[in-house]
Amino acid sequence: MSRPSADPAAALRPRLPSPLQEVRDARFDRHGVRLLLKRDDLAHPEIPGNKWRKLVPNLRAAAAEGRGTLVTFGGAYSNHLRATAAAARLLGIRAVGIVRGHELAGRPLNPSLARCAADGMRLSFVDRATYRRKDEPGVVAGLLAGLGLTSGDVCVVPEGGSNALAVHGCAELGRELERELPAAAGTVAVACGTGGTLAGLAAGLGAGRRALGFPVLKGDFLEGEVRGLQRAAFGGPAGDWRLDGRFHCGGFARTTGELDAFAEEFEDRHGLPVERLYVAKMLYGLGVLAREGAFAPGTAVAAVVTGPPEPGSAHGA
Ligand SMILES: Cc1ncc(COP(=O)(O)O)c(C=O)c1O
Repeated sequence: MSRPSADPAAALRPRLPSPLQEVRDARFDRHGVRLLLKRDDLAHPEIPGNKWRKLVPNLRAAAAEGRGTLVTFGGAYSNHLRATAAAARLLGIRAVGIVRGHELAGRPLNPSLARCAADGMRLSFVDRATYRRKDEPGVVAGLLAGLGLTSGDVCVVPEGGSNALAVHGCAELGRELERELPAAAGTVAVACGTGGTLAGLAAGLGAGRRALGFPVLKGDFLEGEVRGLQRAAFGGPAGDWRLDGRFHCGGFARTTGELDAFAEEFEDRHGLPVERLYVAKMLYGLGVLAREGAFAPGTAVAAVVTGPPEPGSAHGA
């Protein structure tokens, strides 16, 4: 155990390029606009979508440096923690998940954390004040020391998996789309949490295409985050991108009756499961933009399906 595989991407056997699927949807049809879904949710059964794009470059770096323990951060329902735990199990390396909320330590694990533990991830619960400072080197060093870990063996991946390496991984998604999309597809939409996926996607797309990000959190911090991630990854701005902040529906994990109705109808009509925290908000926002005439007749819009429904949800496995 814990000797990292030389080529994690090959060892994990992804389905790449992920499929590009056209769906006929009246919300777009009636404006003469084609809707193309980039099914990145199908890229890997346990490390889907943007989790794959972000984790693999970090796993490669860990392997190259001989680091056998992944340490990362997340909330109690984090998709990123689950994907990291699965990747570590499949590659035979160690994983530690630092979880927000010391009060959770004494309680039964929820299904998401139980999955992480079943995959062999060691879980460490920290109080919220410490968790907020998790990007400070001194705080990280203290946490690692408390866990008995030596920094030479550890690869620390930030919350949500978004760092410069992850942004490079997401640029590969942009390049993949660039090879697949018709010239008429001027807009590529993606839902945003930390902004890492958008930062890379925009950089990978060619001239004449714009990445359009739909933040699922409230607040106007994201533009600065995306710029910062692009600076860290590429040294400065890259690609054409913008944000449309109107569709967070109240904030992270919040929803509205209209969003729920939209997602259910989209699932029924197209027979594909819609992840609710991110993907539903992006698709809903795109439908509104089509109604507003944002896309010229005769063009196409590509939407990145960044992940499947969360396990244990009414819509997931
Ligand atoms: C399914 C899904 N879509 C989109 C995102 C947003 O990605 P990012 O944090 O890179 O903006 C996430 C979070 O990682 C996610 O789980």
